Amino acid sequence: MALRFEILGRFNRARAAQLTLPHFVCQTPLFMPVGTQGTIKGLATNQLEEIGCQIILGNTYHLALRPTSELIDELGGLHQFMNWPRALLTDSGGFQMVSLLHLADITEKGVTFQSPVDGKPMLLTPEESIQIQNRIGADIIMALDDVVKTTITGPRIEEAMYRTLRWIDRCIAAHERPHEQNLFGIVQGGLDPVLRDICVRGLVDRNLPGAYSCDSYAIGGLAGGESKDSFWRVVAQCTAALPEDKPRYVMGVGYPLDIVVCSALGADMYDCVYPTRTARFGTALVPEGVLKLKHNAMADDTRPIDPTCACMVCRTYSRAYIHCLVTKDAMGSQLLSYHNLYYMMKLSRDLHTSIIEGRFPEFVCNFLRIMFPKGD
Ligand code: GUN
Ligand code: ZN
Repeated sequence: MALRFEILGRFNRARAAQLTLPHFVCQTPLFMPVGTQGTIKGLATNQLEEIGCQIILGNTYHLALRPTSELIDELGGLHQFMNWPRALLTDSGGFQMVSLLHLADITEKGVTFQSPVDGKPMLLTPEESIQIQNRIGADIIMALDDVVKTTITGPRIEEAMYRTLRWIDRCIAAHERPHEQNLFGIVQGGLDPVLRDICVRGLVDRNLPGAYSCDSYAIGGLAGGESKDSFWRVVAQCTAALPEDKPRYVMGVGYPLDIVVCSALGADMYDCVYPTRTARFGTALVPEGVLKLKHNAMADDTRPIDPTCACMVCRTYSRAYIHCLVTKDAMGSQLLSYHNLYYMMKLSRDLHTSIIEGRFPEFVCNFLRIMFPKGD
């Protein structure tokens, strides 16, 4: 195992912890920005450090196509290639293929898809996903899972859950760098509590003394159009059943409200394209919710995006200036991405310290009061 997870404070089910990874010591709850091609769009790695990012995501699927995992390996691994000294996590690729390429076909062998490069059919197996992730060299690698949308029903959900468990055994067997990289298994099972329970138990039962197994666990298959109520219920069920002494990662979750709620339910790690994607559409994250910089009302507004924010953008530029840039120059979305990630990092830090200092309920009440002033 190449991680240490020390819980520093708790409030009911919420935890604040220190997660020691090969390249960085992270504080949880923790938001991880998504960098698809080995970059967070529009931001340089020194800016990401300045913002306080502790760990960022890369996608196996994108990196395997370009520049290829062989080249990354040859150039010393992804940390060196992108000059990022802190922690990295790679997702296994299956989810991206299924969500990006509607032509992907899943069989017991793996995920078959048409190469976007030359249109040839390609197969990503659990073994190959792990081999590619071993070459890329991230601190955390994800098992290849069979992901289905939470909005579908029927036997496909059960098939995907059992297949995910079978694939985890193949991922564990294929993992060649267990002392340098942590393999996380993924809980699937849709919105069905019985299937989720079987999947959690299947994963935890693989954790036999002496046998090599998953280093920790993620909760997958969420944030895909289901109601908040069903989503939060699945998180609550899984966090209650997963081991106390390992980090719990809720995949694809990134709305500030969801991070606060899931942290209260005992989750520790999150990732999402939302803060950077919404920035590219001209939207800033602020304590009140969102601020649309394209809006005409911004044209002569001399205030910073968020007067309470200490980030470089809020200390330097007005809403009027960013409004002027936002559809005209890449700098507009870069500045908004910078601010939005700063907001997410500050939210992570505030969750961490409020849990440690025993004022988590006050923090949550205050967060909700500012976001929903009318109580709705
Ligand atoms: N990203 C968001 N949700 C998921 C999921 O269920 N599985 C994987 N591998 N990645 C995700
Ligand atoms: Zn700011």
